[in-house]
Amino acid sequence: MSDRPAVTASTARRTRLTCAVALTIAANAVLLACAAGAQTAADLSLRSLAATCAGCHGTAGHAVQGGGIPSLAGMPREAFMADMRGFRDGTRPATIMQQLAKGFDAAQIEALADYFFARGNEPAARPAGAAQ
Ligand code: HEC
Repeated sequence: MSDRPAVTASTARRTRLTCAVALTIAANAVLLACAAGAQTAADLSLRSLAATCAGCHGTAGHAVQGGGIPSLAGMPREAFMADMRGFRDGTRPATIMQQLAKGFDAAQIEALADYFFARGNEPAARPAGAAQ
């Protein structure tokens, strides 16, 4: 004989009910997020692509001034794409960007060019520790 209490029918019923409530809440959360419609899947994937650049080029391409890495925010599209192509085919000398640029196809580079160009209209984040 086991000394653990047997699962009663009422415990099982309660568990099923709890699960049903949890699922309903989760489904509503998903519906709300979709209904907000603020971001499409394409927007999100572009933003996560661009986020991989933020570690060096700053949030949304606003590099830390004096940090030695150029800002991408507001960079003209053509210049951005020419740089990325140059990094990719090795004609533009670089320390790190040649390796990075090889990971992106032409469509992704074009989308990133649009994304960073548009960031030029946003104010740069205040540097850490700057006066309010
Ligand atoms: C590990 C740091 C690092 C990451 C991550 C990084 N970059 Fe760079 N980037 C650099 C450095 C350093 C340079 C200067 C060229 C070099 O030495 O590679 C540069 C230069 C550039 C330039 C040329 C800008 C100019 O005005 O000359 C572009 C365009 C660029 N990066 C785009 C990107 C994009 C797009 C991403 C994300 C997909 C990215 N970088 C991620 C470090 C980085």
